[in-house]
This record gives sequence, C-alpha cells and structure tokens, in this order.
Amino acid sequence: MAKVQVFDHPLVQHKLTMIRDENTGVKSFRELVDELAMLMTYEVTRDFPTEEVDITTPVAPAKAKVIAGKKVAIVPILRAGLGMVNGILRLIPAAKVGHIGLYRDPETLLPVEYYCKLPNDIQERDVIIVDPMLATGGSAAAAIGFLKDRGIKSMKLMCLIAAPEGIRVVHQAHEDVDIFTAAIDDHLNEHGYIVPGLGDAGDRLFGTK
Ligand code: PRP
Ligand code: URA
Repeated sequence: MAKVQVFDHPLVQHKLTMIRDENTGVKSFRELVDELAMLMTYEVTRDFPTEEVDITTPVAPAKAKVIAGKKVAIVPILRAGLGMVNGILRLIPAAKVGHIGLYRDPETLLPVEYYCKLPNDIQERDVIIVDPMLATGGSAAAAIGFLKDRGIKSMKLMCLIAAPEGIRVVHQAHEDVDIFTAAIDDHLNEHGYIVPGLGDAGDRLFGTK
C-alpha cells in the first residue's frame, strides 16, 4: 500500500504559510515555491539506494557512499508544476524533465490533456511528478495513468497542499504511488478549490487571473 508523507519540517511549514497568505506577491510566491520544492526533494529522495566507492581524500584512502540505482526524471504537470522544477534541479542537476499539459475543465473539474513530451529513456528512470495542488486528484491520477501507459513503473507524487479527497482518488487509482506533501488541508469547496489552500497556484505563480 502506498504511503502519504507530510513533510512537517519547520522551514517547510514556515514557507508554506507565506505562500498561503493572500498578501504574498508573485515574486515571493515563485521564490518560495522553488525553495519548498528543493526542501521536499530531501525527503522524496530519502530511499534512494547508495553504494560504496573507493576514493582518496587528501589524508587517506576511504570508502564512501554515492547514489546508485536509477537516474531521475521530473515531470511537472503544466502549468503550476513548472514552479517546482528548478528547486529539484538544484539538488539533482542531471535529472531529465518531461512535461504533461493538463488543465481542469472549470465546469466538470475533469482533467483535459493538451501536451505530453517525455525523455526517451524515462522508463529507466525514477519519476517524480510535481504539482503544487492535489485537489480532486483528477489531474494527478490522469498524469500517473498517462505515464503508466508509457511503461513507467517507478513514480512518486510531490505536491505542496493536498486535499483528503485528492489523496483518496490517487490512491484508489494508483495504490503503488507514494504521495509527498507539505500539508493535508481540510476539504474542497464547491468550485473544487482546496480550503484553506492558497487559491489558484498557476495564477499566483505566473501573475495571471
Ligand atoms: C491546478 C493544479 C493542478 C490541478 C489540481 O491546475 O496545478 O494541476 O489544478 O486540481 P485537481 O486535483 O482537481 O485535478 P489547473 O488545472 O488550474 O491548471 P494550471 O496549472 O494551468 O493553472
Ligand atoms: N487548483 C489550484 O490551483 N488550487 C486549488 O485550490 C485547486 C486546484
């Protein structure tokens, strides 16, 4: 059974509070989302395997650990997921980046795919799907489904705020995918917005309305 991990580190919680605040402007919002993604990468990569290699320090020969196993691909769900990519790349600079374009139909709240471009070797990589908001779960569940259809087996979902409804939907459809989030909020309102949430993440990141 997949797990849901809430990253409750004080730095993460502090920065999350700042992006929730309606008075936080676009520049700060962007910087904070970037920093949050970087901090959360620390936890998302905790189970990466390591192996010992032989090196020589200026003092003596030594056995030391390096990351072994698969390389990483980051897949942001457009648009808002884009805001999390650079933060992850600062810690995993050689990761490849694929893109899935989905928007939520405002009437049905169902995800509509408009773009998909993935690295050729993505099946051989550990994939981190990123999107700041997990609301009804429709977008994330669809994105995971598209990636599974393309043969990808190893996936994690990183978001900043999740609604209980979204977690349920993702895990009912994909019980093998772990979810990492900075918060689980109370509920969704009648427009499918997370309460209290932070509003529309894409609009706040890109200054659109
Ligand atoms: C937002 C958000 C998620 C989706 C979450 O994107 O970034 O992708 O909604 O909602 P769900 O869990 O109910 O599917 P939106 O569709 O507003 O598009 P945008 O990123 O282009 O703003
Ligand atoms: N998408 C957002 O950007 N915010 C929400 O609260 C729900 C979906």
